[in-house]
Amino acid sequence: MSATEGSTELKIYQPPAALAGSAHVSGMAAYEAMCQAAEADYEGFWAGHARELLSWKTPFTKVLNESEAPFFKWFEDGTLNASYNCLDRNIERGLGDKTAIIFEADGGEVTKVTYKELLAKTCQIANGLKSLGIKKGDRVVIYIAMSIDGVAAMQACARIGATHSVVFGGFSAQSLRDRIEDTGAVAVITADNQVRGGKQLPLKSIVDEALALGGCDSVKNVLVVKRSGAAIAMTAGRDLWMADVVASQPTSCEPEWVSAEHPLFLLYTSGSTGKPKGVQHSTGGYLLHAALTTKLTFDLKADDVFWCTADIGWVTGHTYITYGPLALGGTEIVFEGVPTYPDAGRFWKMIQDHKVSIFYTAPTAIRSLIKAAEANDAVHPKSYNLSSLRILGSVGEPINPAAWEWYHQHVGGGRCPIVDTFWQTETGGHMITPLPGATPLVPGSCTLPFPGIQAAVVDETGKDVPWGQGGILVVKKPWPSMIRTIWGDPERFKKSYYPEDFKGKYYLAGDGAIRDAKTGYFTITGRIDDVLNVSGHRMGTMEIESALVSCTELVAEAAVVGRPDDTTGEAICAFVVLKRPRPTGDEAKAIAKQLRDWVGKEIGPIAKPKDIRFGDNLPKTRSGKIMRRLLRSLAKNEAITQDTSTLENPAILEQLGDNH
Ligand code: WTA
Repeated sequence: MSATEGSTELKIYQPPAALAGSAHVSGMAAYEAMCQAAEADYEGFWAGHARELLSWKTPFTKVLNESEAPFFKWFEDGTLNASYNCLDRNIERGLGDKTAIIFEADGGEVTKVTYKELLAKTCQIANGLKSLGIKKGDRVVIYIAMSIDGVAAMQACARIGATHSVVFGGFSAQSLRDRIEDTGAVAVITADNQVRGGKQLPLKSIVDEALALGGCDSVKNVLVVKRSGAAIAMTAGRDLWMADVVASQPTSCEPEWVSAEHPLFLLYTSGSTGKPKGVQHSTGGYLLHAALTTKLTFDLKADDVFWCTADIGWVTGHTYITYGPLALGGTEIVFEGVPTYPDAGRFWKMIQDHKVSIFYTAPTAIRSLIKAAEANDAVHPKSYNLSSLRILGSVGEPINPAAWEWYHQHVGGGRCPIVDTFWQTETGGHMITPLPGATPLVPGSCTLPFPGIQAAVVDETGKDVPWGQGGILVVKKPWPSMIRTIWGDPERFKKSYYPEDFKGKYYLAGDGAIRDAKTGYFTITGRIDDVLNVSGHRMGTMEIESALVSCTELVAEAAVVGRPDDTTGEAICAFVVLKRPRPTGDEAKAIAKQLRDWVGKEIGPIAKPKDIRFGDNLPKTRSGKIMRRLLRSLAKNEAITQDTSTLENPAILEQLGDNH
């Protein structure tokens, strides 16, 4: 790949010639032609891809229905099945004996399954679920670590038309309970334990705890996959070993043909206010975009080995592990462990061992591996043979140019394009991203919208701002894989994503963006709401605040803000007023630890604040509003330059600034 200095100080990387000639989208002219095709006939564009990439039981005759906007419907009279598309369709195309999943366990053991084997496993689970009375429309919560069983459980739900809701294995019993209650799930699929970094961590006992918290009467069964063989409690009449449930089940199962609009899954994510929202995705439109983006953004071909390092508990794992690569008949890696075990060379070793050709990970992981590699040659990518790589990807948070350059040079050997993919749980798949054989790359920019996606930067009134000027990121037209609603709360869906300020016309992403004055390339400038992005995980500040104040014995008041962090992107910083005098020294440390553990228990370890500062009060206006912008400056240890004239208690700034 050649790096040339552009007219600005930005480096531009042109697609390597080999890729530019052979990619699914070759050259900018091909990209532009696709965009123009979508422009000229928006519905025809999506319908064409939907017919080509998906198998329909009943072909759709309607493409987009806007009559109940913003509750858009796509391909609504078509019927299909997601698991049929990911498994049977490939077997019918002659890929039955092709490896679908290469699973590598935490300890390094490798298990491979072919498409035929994955289908058999999926069908047995599907039949097992049916034998328990689980049917189309029921919700099933999945609380399991990265595993073939996890992917197969999701596929099995899809096969019988049950809507899955995967809860990341790092969430606490309380968070799990909240999600079970909100979905009204009839069953929970879990494992005895999970193994990460050589350690066993509980899963089943957390499910027990969650159910014991109450409000989960909808749950009739808990199905337990045996992972580590740890001793766990089984409640008679409710808990069943997955192996027993599937043992006598046939390895085939007629798919439940569902409408394209049937909810394939619910996935909870943080918003700026209140409790996490259950983002509802469709079957047809979602699967179309999962397949199309996997094909074009990653240029997935028949002999690629694709590895997305995300967890199936997040949307990236849904779209780019469970659905996208399988819908295309690809071969993919599923990895149970962590990037730093047994050492920080694990990713590079796995790329070498499995000849990974497409590698998709998060900037946080890259940044932490840079640190490790710089300290120890043995875990530096140069100590491994990474010549199988041809495309790299980044997701979840902005990638800073320094990390981009390192990833490009040391992991990609200077020859692999990096696709910096901007998208969200709500968007289902990539929204703004380079295409590797077409788009010239600029480190730190997610470049241009995926063909068909009408992304724009507007001001508060919804008017386009000129290139070079920052604004609010919106999507002007509905697209197939967009969020359909917030489960059980359509009003919140409207308010969050189609607010009146924009006359309900545009999808509001919740991020700020700026387009380069010359190229029009997008750079995401960060969330414009109270959502933090810590190691690529979305956390609502309000959620963490309510977890803190629910520690009623200790906490009187709490405010949470983010501050930049070199490794995790953002770090959580909490300002806390206790019900007792402000602690200092060792006492402050001990209470901070107690509160961190409390938040870990309420939400999960990922939500534990990095900094906790104690004050006699919080900076407030005379009307009692907490001045968060001041807290943000304090968190960064920045001098306060803002106007503090409306502040009721200016002395508090000094106290909170000092106290760390
Ligand atoms: C951020 C993850 C910059 C953004 C797929 C978005 C990014 C939120 C990028 C969604 C990127 C994701 N560049 N920022 N390439 N990708 N984000 O729902 O703030 O977990 O709104 O989906 O992550 O996070 P979510």
